[in-house]
Amino acid sequence: MDLGLKGKNAIVTGGAGGIGLGCAKALAAEGCNIIIADLNDELAAKCADDIKNEYGVDAWGMKLNVCDQDSIKEFWENVKENVGVADILVNNVGGRIDRAPLNELSDEAWLKTFDLTIHSGFYMSKAFCNQFVPDKGKGAIINVTSKSAIMSSSKGNSHYSSAKAAVIGMTRILAKDVYDLGIRVNCIAPGYVQTERVYPDGDPRTEEKRKLLLTHDFAKPADLGNVVAFLASEKSYQIIGAVIDVTGGTLC
Ligand SMILES: NC(=O)c1ccc[n+]([C@@H]2O[C@H](COP(=O)([O-])OP(=O)(O)OC[C@H]3O[C@@H](n4cnc5c(N)ncnc54)[C@H](O)[C@@H]3O)[C@@H](O)[C@H]2O)c1
Repeated sequence: MDLGLKGKNAIVTGGAGGIGLGCAKALAAEGCNIIIADLNDELAAKCADDIKNEYGVDAWGMKLNVCDQDSIKEFWENVKENVGVADILVNNVGGRIDRAPLNELSDEAWLKTFDLTIHSGFYMSKAFCNQFVPDKGKGAIINVTSKSAIMSSSKGNSHYSSAKAAVIGMTRILAKDVYDLGIRVNCIAPGYVQTERVYPDGDPRTEEKRKLLLTHDFAKPADLGNVVAFLASEKSYQIIGAVIDVTGGTLC
């Protein structure tokens, strides 16, 4: 199925690895030009070169720290100068700082987790919407939440679960706020994903987790990427403000 994304400019935050790279590749496979926006600019540049060679699209690796407003401002200036208008934004960066029961969790860990996971999406989405040109065509924002936002997560994870739940709240209202600008907003909820950082092969805990999925296999970054590409396209025009469960049946 041709998703009709050819020539669109897509930004993927944290696109130099894991789920973000899976999203960047899936969008490139549909003909999008890709901006890998990552703290690790060397790796971002390498991923962009690989994508250019493999998919024949334009691709840029750009430095971005989603927790730093100066970096965000500089990033958008870079996009304007080198790419033009962005049509698609994947707010993929997120994560947890430390793990501890809430009564022992440091204020710093709580606040930094929110900076990384939800405040980043606010600043990036605001800048994206304000540079988007409604006449240019249909735009999309896809946020990355987590199953931890929906089901009880493991102990010591209150900050991550809360911040990921906030991603869902923001997605729903932002979807209403900007629909008339021509931007559809949705989010995906990954469960257990085969990223080397989280589930290294050979670790006994990895095998335990695998049994929790009906598929008995972790999602691959490419599986998330395929859903993101569909949500970015007009084939999904009736899906607005939704949370798409990509957990291999963990939530059912
Ligand atoms: N991996 C999983 O199993 C899983 C499950 C559910 C949800 N998620 C969510 O999916 C998203 C991606 O997770 P992942 O495990 O693939 O990513 P990851 O932690 O491996 O990081 C991906 C990229 O983000 C970049 N990055 C980190 N901090 C950054 C910052 N401040 N600014 C810009 N870039 C930054 C890193 O350099 C890296 O290239 C996250 O939001 C995560 O919470 C992951």
